[in-house]
Amino acid sequence: MRTVPVSQFPPVEITVYSYECDAFGHLNQAAYLQVFERARWEILARGPGADLFDRNKVWPAVRRATVDYLLPAFPGDVLKVDADVEKVGETSLEMRQRAVRARDGKLLAELHIVFVTIDKEGRPKPIPAEIASIFTPRQSRPGEVVRHSVGDVSLAADVRGDGPALLLIHGFPLDHSLWAHQIATLKGWRRIAPDLRGCGLSDAPGDGYSMATYADDLVRLLDQMQVKKAVVAGLSMGGYIAFELLRRYRDRIVGLILLDTRAEADTAEGRASRETLIEVAHNAGPGAVGERMLPRLLGGTTQRTQPHLVPQVKKMAERWSVPGIVGALGAMRDRPDSTALLQTIDVPTLVVVGEEDELTPPALARAMTSAIASAAMTTIAAAGHLSPLEAPSAVSRVMAEFLEAVPRP
Ligand code: MLT
Repeated sequence: MRTVPVSQFPPVEITVYSYECDAFGHLNQAAYLQVFERARWEILARGPGADLFDRNKVWPAVRRATVDYLLPAFPGDVLKVDADVEKVGETSLEMRQRAVRARDGKLLAELHIVFVTIDKEGRPKPIPAEIASIFTPRQSRPGEVVRHSVGDVSLAADVRGDGPALLLIHGFPLDHSLWAHQIATLKGWRRIAPDLRGCGLSDAPGDGYSMATYADDLVRLLDQMQVKKAVVAGLSMGGYIAFELLRRYRDRIVGLILLDTRAEADTAEGRASRETLIEVAHNAGPGAVGERMLPRLLGGTTQRTQPHLVPQVKKMAERWSVPGIVGALGAMRDRPDSTALLQTIDVPTLVVVGEEDELTPPALARAMTSAIASAAMTTIAAAGHLSPLEAPSAVSRVMAEFLEAVPRP
């Protein structure tokens, strides 16, 4: 097993606007503080969730902020801003943030900031365990992405927590970061969120992509981690893989969470559109496939109210390789129908669907739920096809409630 030094909180990109600049046309020194603040909230939203402080009932108040301004930034410059917690005290957090110009990697400014954690009345309050564990400095931070050799490939997986295993299988064209909130919050479970072969930080062989291969990879991953049985959660294509796991490795599954997915195989029209996307991938690359799919991946409400998720989903698509994305499209095109399988499912099952999911709408989820004797269904308000990303707290909450009731393997 090889550890890949991937930060739990990757930097976010922020564009400098002209209204933030001073009479010299530079990004104004006070506006820099806002850039750093925007980046912190963005990083929080993409990682442990923007409600991290609300749900722990403590809030960070800035005690001191020192900025070193090193080089000017101008309108249109794209800044990569990170956030590293350097020290976690009893009631304080120290953080360093760097703003680096994306086009040449030059460090423009660096912030050192100290927060005191306070309650609603403004009294200092000890940092709760969840926040302390998320912000433990990088070397010992849980959730490093690690790579495991599974047969002919090595798969990257974000693995966090102790307890019975919860395997989180992402959809298409996404990666493990889809589950950021669930990985950070579903305490009491060992959350295992891999990148499938062909995408993210996993290897991307030139061929050999099918639902069977994905399922075999994941079972080998569980074997490597000495996990005998797991609850399997799959979103969309991840659900198709969950069905394949049921077909091939039923005795390894003790519970099932089917999110924004369908049991039916592709229609003739669906297969034709896979062919079109395969051409797009060959001619214009994985990012172009993501662009084409994006309007139907995120719900209308999300696109209006959380526009920052649009580039985040684009980035996930860009992390696919061409063979990986072409292979996945072929695997989905050729997958078997799983409707008959539904009646044979006898493990506790939760079906989750975004109420604005256009790709696998609530009607499909209802039909799937009625076909599974042991299933219950939850609809997530104001979310589209990527409900765990669009409504992270709501999805994590229903998953946590479901997991409470699953007999422990
Ligand atoms: C996914 O999210 O995995 C895809 O929408 C699945 C599909 O295209 O069938």
